[in-house]
Amino acid sequence: MNTLEAIHRRRSIRRFRPDPVPEELLTKILEAARRAPSGTNAQPWKFVVVRSPERREALAEAAYGQAMFHQAPVIVVALGDRKVYKRRMRRAKELIDVGAIDAEVIEKLGNVYRNRATQTLEPDQAIMANCMIAVDHLILAATDLGLGTCWVRFMKVEEIAAALGLPEEVFPIVMIPLGYADEDPPSRPRYPLDEVAFAEDLDHPWPAEVTEDGA
Ligand SMILES: Cc1cc2nc3c(=O)[nH]c(=O)nc-3n(C[C@H](O)[C@H](O)[C@H](O)COP(=O)(O)O)c2cc1C
Repeated sequence: MNTLEAIHRRRSIRRFRPDPVPEELLTKILEAARRAPSGTNAQPWKFVVVRSPERREALAEAAYGQAMFHQAPVIVVALGDRKVYKRRMRRAKELIDVGAIDAEVIEKLGNVYRNRATQTLEPDQAIMANCMIAVDHLILAATDLGLGTCWVRFMKVEEIAAALGLPEEVFPIVMIPLGYADEDPPSRPRYPLDEVAFAEDLDHPWPAEVTEDGA
């Protein structure tokens, strides 16, 4: 399956078979998440793979009892890490060292970061934005490997933190029930392309027609 196929085949799966997911597949999808890009290469994320029935039960409670939590054999919890995010200028300097980005750009970036007034995002928002990219990598990799997933944000953050014994600087961002799908749903509604994509400005809807499978 190529990337476009995975994008078009992915669905939110809410019915799972109980079959366990081989460890090597889990490693592959975690590795896909690790490979995700992030601002200044900060990588402010952690992923906890939960398989024990007791912890899954606690996470189901934290997700307001959403039924898929009682079926999926694996729940991946994506976490943001404020301590790791604070090290982002160190990561940025590494980018200079490996020749990926000009020192001049990183210097300007540092000046903007140091001045609260010119920061575009609060730290937790930036952590979340970066973490979401990694989660999308994880989900598309799982799709490629024949696994079903669902993004879950309808959740009680404090309960998840308690269930996983998280330190203060680490906070839950999204949960991903994961396993072999027990349903094959059609694609869900989307706004048409010409309502979401534009040429040059919002007065010119994008003209191209794209079929459901992206061909
Ligand atoms: C950030 C985010 C949070 C979501 N939270 C939930 C959730 O708590 N429960 C749920 O059943 N689906 C959740 N979804 C799945 C959406 O309902 C789903 O992506 C949307 O309806 C489109 O369907 P599709 O994913 O099958 O294309 C979430 C999706 C995203 C991206």
